[in-house]
Amino acid sequence: MSDKIVVVTGATRGIGRATATAFARAGYRVIVTGRRAPAVEAVVGELRSAGLAAEGEILDVCSVDSARCLHDSLAERHDHIDVLVNNAGILPEATATGTVNFAHPGAFTETLMTNTFGPVNVIEALLPLVRRAPAGRIVNISTEMGSLTEQRNPESAYYSMVVPGYQASKAALNSITVGLAKSLADTAVRVTSVCPGFVATELAPAAADAPTTPEQAAQVVLAAAESPEVSTDGSFVGAQGAIAW
Ligand SMILES: NC(=O)c1ccc[n+]([C@@H]2O[C@H](COP(=O)([O-])OP(=O)(O)OC[C@H]3O[C@@H](n4cnc5c(N)ncnc54)[C@H](OP(=O)(O)O)[C@@H]3O)[C@@H](O)[C@H]2O)c1
Repeated sequence: MSDKIVVVTGATRGIGRATATAFARAGYRVIVTGRRAPAVEAVVGELRSAGLAAEGEILDVCSVDSARCLHDSLAERHDHIDVLVNNAGILPEATATGTVNFAHPGAFTETLMTNTFGPVNVIEALLPLVRRAPAGRIVNISTEMGSLTEQRNPESAYYSMVVPGYQASKAALNSITVGLAKSLADTAVRVTSVCPGFVATELAPAAADAPTTPEQAAQVVLAAAESPEVSTDGSFVGAQGAIAW
């Protein structure tokens, strides 16, 4: 059995699925998690058919009970988790309908629940297992769109983009990266936010023609998880290196 264990949330498609595959190919035992059993089983089956180490678990990141169940199930079989990849995320503002003055309340709430509370919920449940790893890592999948520096830089491609819920959810996630990293500074656990690039997935209609493949994005996530250069107050990185917060 592989010694190194990674848990990937939202691993049933897109960047999460590719990330699970990349870690498995790199020698990790991958815990594939998702909301729907058939989708989880499909990814686990695909990995095992390729001779890779994978286990499936049901996880809705928005549910406290679901996260606790995941912890209890994993703790029965494993004494630690090396890497937690908080990947599950949504962008409902891309398809929300109706006129709004600024932000669509339903989409805003749903986005914050999944993209911000979700990672916090999973971290809260799994942190005891991550702390038991020799050099634990928590990787939060963020985006350069959540960078406050980019949002306020007129030269930035993101200056003209206003997607209130999504950007707020990822800016908050970046804040969580910093706060969590500091709270774990005297442990062996390090925390990083990663922007995988603009990736061709089902996240939003505009992503269908994105220039980066999920497999390329997964290499960015894997490299960030294995990079020794993570400070005790967190890091925010992409394919080209450090990103301004
Ligand atoms: N695509 C991009 O250009 C891009 C750029 C920067 C950052 N990101 C980030 O990358 C991450 C992955 O996005 P993606 O592009 O791969 O999107 P995607 O193809 O839509 O995949 C999203 C994944 O998250 C899962 N998910 C959604 N809500 C969940 C919940 N409550 N509990 C558990 N799983 C849930 C989905 O599973 P279900 O099948 O159950 O819905 C799916 O597996 C997101 O955090 C996104 O913000 C994407």
